[in-house]
Amino acid sequence: MHLTPSPLKILVVGGAGYIGSHMVKMLSLKGCSVTTLDDLSSGHRDAVLHGEFIQGSLADKALLDRVLSQGFDAVMHFASFIQVGESVQQPDKYYQNNVVNTLCLLDAMRVHGVLRLVFSSTAATFGEPQYSPIDEQHPQQPINPYGRTKLMVEQILQDYDTAYGMKSVCLRYFNAAGADPQGELGERHEPETHLIPLVLQVASGRRPHISVFGRDYDTPDGTCIRDYIHIEDLCTAHWLAVQALMAGQESQAYNLGNGSGFSVQEVVDTASRITGKKITVQDAPRRLGDPARLIADASLARLKLGWEPRYPDLATIIAHAWQWESKP
Ligand code: UFG
Repeated sequence: MHLTPSPLKILVVGGAGYIGSHMVKMLSLKGCSVTTLDDLSSGHRDAVLHGEFIQGSLADKALLDRVLSQGFDAVMHFASFIQVGESVQQPDKYYQNNVVNTLCLLDAMRVHGVLRLVFSSTAATFGEPQYSPIDEQHPQQPINPYGRTKLMVEQILQDYDTAYGMKSVCLRYFNAAGADPQGELGERHEPETHLIPLVLQVASGRRPHISVFGRDYDTPDGTCIRDYIHIEDLCTAHWLAVQALMAGQESQAYNLGNGSGFSVQEVVDTASRITGKKITVQDAPRRLGDPARLIADASLARLKLGWEPRYPDLATIIAHAWQWESKP
């Protein structure tokens, strides 16, 4: 006799944000029972298309206690502040939310015996690249408070595994981009600082021009090179990570990108081709703390999680983001 396995019960913290909302949709389509916890400080209630929604902060220990007492197979944690520049200006905000509030979450998980976590980490934990592409052995020497908060949580998670048996997968995203291929969800940061949505806002007429931050980098066209990864491929990696944890895989960190880099100018040119619109460019000085080139070596995720990106080409990533940006 075959018993149907009960659906996985997943808590998505930060599920109203850009990556979290796409994840909630994917989990739900996979048949999971999904609960979103989000304080809506930057997320959008209407981006949570499935499951239960609870509005609240990770700083609210009584709330965390109530939520975690429901019991979950795993938690996915997307609720961090992500602006590098702001983290330099207001480190207190970043250490408080990204580290202290994460500790509140981990402790509530521990108390309630929820011992599996998928954590959103970042390429910013590596700092200035010492070689390229960047694999998991690359030294982690972050150069801004944002990157340091993420590295601190990675280290905390190692200690929580040793002491409490909490198993985690840290996924270090390079440049998350694109949108839901079905057009239901997309990127909505306020303020928007990321290159692809900004370029597309120029194409749609919402902005007059895109500033290119520096043309004097040591790259073929002088503009910075990044490894853009489609949001759906990123979510697939989280799904595989949860399954690996459920199967008893040890705690692990993985770099996630496509392994190919595109320059800022190439992004502008591709966006112009995909949208058929003129994109006005204005040259601007370098942005502080931008490495010339950030490219992931994601071989480990491919090998151990069986991760295979479905939308590795920049044109598709931009086409899906454009479908969202140009939605009436
Ligand atoms: N850029 C411009 N003009 C803009 C915006 C961006 O030229 O108006 C350039 C940046 O200088 C950079 C590239 O476009 O060279 C990509 O910039 P994004 O801001 O889109 O992304 P980042 O590479 O700076 O940041 C991403 C994540 C961060 C994370 C970082 C890790 O969004 O959360 O990768 O290095 F910290």
